Order: sequence, then C-alpha cells, then structure tokens
Amino acid sequence: MGNSADLLISNGLVVTPDSVFAASVAIKDGKIIAVGSADAMPTAAETVDATGLHVLPGAIDVHVHFRDPGYPHKEDWASGTAAAAFGGVTTVFDMPNTIPPTGTPEILAAKHAIASSKAHVDYGLYGLLGEDTIEAVPALCAGGVIGFKCYMGNTFGKIPTPSTGAMLEAFEVVATTGKRISLHAETNSIMERRETRLRAAGRTDPLAHIASRPAVVAIEAVSRAAILAEWTGARIHILHISSADELRPLREAKARGVDLTGETCPHYLMLSSEDYARFAGVIRVNPPVREKRNQEPLWQALADGTIDLIATDHAPHAPGEKTRNDIWTVDCGFPGVELQMPLMLTAVNAGRLSICDYVRLSAASPARIWGLYPRKGVIQPGADADLTLVDLAREWTVDDAKLQSRSKISPWHGRAVKGLPMHTLVRGKFVMRERALVSDARGWGRSVHSIQQMPPPVVRNPDQTLQAVTSVPHRQGQAA
Ligand code: NCD
Ligand code: ZN
Repeated sequence: MGNSADLLISNGLVVTPDSVFAASVAIKDGKIIAVGSADAMPTAAETVDATGLHVLPGAIDVHVHFRDPGYPHKEDWASGTAAAAFGGVTTVFDMPNTIPPTGTPEILAAKHAIASSKAHVDYGLYGLLGEDTIEAVPALCAGGVIGFKCYMGNTFGKIPTPSTGAMLEAFEVVATTGKRISLHAETNSIMERRETRLRAAGRTDPLAHIASRPAVVAIEAVSRAAILAEWTGARIHILHISSADELRPLREAKARGVDLTGETCPHYLMLSSEDYARFAGVIRVNPPVREKRNQEPLWQALADGTIDLIATDHAPHAPGEKTRNDIWTVDCGFPGVELQMPLMLTAVNAGRLSICDYVRLSAASPARIWGLYPRKGVIQPGADADLTLVDLAREWTVDDAKLQSRSKISPWHGRAVKGLPMHTLVRGKFVMRERALVSDARGWGRSVHSIQQMPPPVVRNPDQTLQAVTSVPHRQGQAA
C-alpha cells in the first residue's frame, strides 16, 4: 500500500492554463501525486467520480476583507472562508483594515491566531504599510505577512493615507525584503476636495460617488506609485483596476520594466453606471463601478496581460449599512468571494474568455506573483491538492439570502449565472462537498506565508535611501 493514494478524482476534465484534458488526479498526504489516464493511477482509499465536472485549481483571491477582528456583524474568518469554499476559492489574502489595523507584529500574531482557528481555506495576511508602520516592516515580515497593503486613498476603515514622502521611504524599506506592496491606488487629496464640494452643493445621489472619484484619481495614483516602485525596486500590485484610463500608466510602467502587476474584479467587468438607479447605495464601492465604456478595455487588458489576475475585493457590510439614502453615509463595498467563479464561468460560457484563461487569471497568476507557484495555483504532481470541481453547465440565479457571507446584500442579486463549484478541496481535504460545508473543515486553513518564495529582492538606488543618507558613517564622511 506504500504507493497507494488517499483519494482519486476520476473521469473529470482537468483544466490548466494551456489545455483541458480528460484525466484522473491522485492525491496523497494533501498533495497531487499523479495526473493522467485512469490506468496509470495508483490504487486509492477513496474514489470520487467527477463525470461531467471540470477540475480546476482552486482560485486564489488576493483581495478579501474578512473583518476579523473588528466587525463581527459584517463577517468573520469562519463565515468569510465558508463563502470562499462555496466559491471554489482555496486561498485568500486578507486585508489589514480590521480593528486594530494589522500594523504591528502583536496585532498580526493575534490575527494569525484567529484565522488559524476558524479558516476553512488557506490564507495570507497583509501587513499595513502606512506612515507609522515603516519601522515595523521587518517584524511584520518575521511574523508572517504575504505582502503589504498601502492605502493611497481613503476607503472603508479610514486608514490614514501616507504622504508621498512616507511612501518613498516605505517602498525603500520593503524593496529590501522582496515582498510585494498592494496598493489602493486612488489619490486622497483629489477625492477629499471633490467630496467636500459635492456635499456642499447638496449632491447625495448614488452617482455623486463616481463624481467624487473620477478616473484621474487612479491615473495619478498608479503613475505615482509606479515612479516610486521604479526608483526603489519595490514590487507593487495595483488593486481593483476600475477604469480604462489607468491602463495607460500601467502599460507604460510595465514597458519600462517596473515590477508591477494588476487585478480587476467582476464588478468592473460586468456592472456599470447604468446599474446605479436599480441598486443605489448597494453598488457603492471604492473605486466606483464606472461608465460602461470602461468594460471592454478592461476585458482587453485581461486578454493582453496588462491586467494579471481576477480578485474580488470581497467587502461585506450589513444591509442597513448599504441602504441609507445619503450616498456619503453608505459603507463602501459588497461581498464577492463566493460569486467570482460563477460570474467568470458565465463569461467563459458566453465565449468572453477561455476556461484556460480563467484558471490563469484566477489561480496560476496570483500563485506566481506571490511566490506560491507551483505549490499553489496548478494541477500537477507535487502541488497542493487545492481543487474545485465545477459544473460548467449549471444555470442558476444569485440569491443574496443564500450567500455564506454574513453580508446578505450585493448588486449581484437576481443575476442569472452559468457555472457552479460543486466540491472544493484544500490540501486534499474536502472543505465543501455537494454544496455543503464539511463540518470539520473549520480550522483546516493554514497561512501560506511559510511556503512563499519571492524572487531575490532587486533594490534600486540603494545609496540614496533615507537609511543610507542618514547613517552615522556617512555623516562622518561628509564632515571630514
Ligand atoms: C473595502 C472595505 O470595505 O474594506 N471597500 C471598498 O469599497 N472596496 C476597502 C477597499 O478595498 O477599498
Ligand atoms: Zn481598496
């Protein structure tokens, strides 16, 4: 029995970024040990018949807000990761705008303790990169962060925006670690000024939200962040790309060789300003869902590699927090981790992208960008058995009330979709089976920081960092 597998998934269609093929997948000790024809498989303790299902690498959602600690009425690690499991998502990266924000090693350790006790899927934790946390960067790295998050603009949680000066210093410090900095790239001062004027003018309607954050806030922020990344060598990731216009600075920076990546979310691809009348405050999110003309260029950018991946910005809030009449008082964001795969598979079914493209955007690319490939994000021997078995032909209608998320309100309510994850496995264990949560899966999730292998740091202009120019030997040298 030495070579026998724990689990065999037979008769499914395995999907990789290059191809779709009929194959069995053998799993032992949480890892894939064989992918191939049925007669090449080892014997197994259990066999699951995947006839009619596609076997996909579990999605890696690098942008979720699970609100824990801090806002248990919106979400916690158990409800958030249950939503992930139902959505075919096997790894999530959680944002630091919890209470308290994840900006010290002590707070990080406390969040690790919560997550490891409740999570149904694997996870990474972002450390907060702000004006006051630069000194904590080494300790946050030692404490196990997957990367850093920097808020260039105000959003839910009101985390202060660092000055450009602080950002440069922060980038200098993070550059030496090789970790990637994910950016909420909207320029705060522009938005603050416009919101003040809009409020003074009496605008409280949902579309005033777009007016307060025109695409120029993203163009300016992406351009500025790219300049700082280019100067320091820091790796950056642009979160929630919402506009056609910010693609130009993104493409230009990539062409210059800046190590930057980008994501967009289903709501920027599939919703538009035309949906504000129907959904009102429910659709309020930062950055805003914009005019319809942005959708096609975002799809194009996914196809040509300008945008590297799909994430959700899963941002749950309570119904009462989403339905206030004055748009400025509505909490920003809505749940998404559970619906990304059905929404994107609907687009696959419609011929908008191939299913191979989809697994590249949802699994392989995020794994590569955060140094988890090929342990995560791919179906091949040696990889973690993080899989989702989807019924690509299943047609259903989104019902907010049935979401696993504690937030039962989204602008996806009533939407017809085609494609549904039927089972989800994390490191060989079913966490969701036949559309039901597996009872002992809570606490199975583990932090992936320990398997992260970023390429060696590439530091630029090291002689001009604040650290270099303020060091004591340098001062003595100048005095001599
Ligand atoms: C996010 C949240 O609620 O935490 N809200 C949002 O509108 N996207 C914060 C964020 O990602 O900007
Ligand atoms: Zn954000």
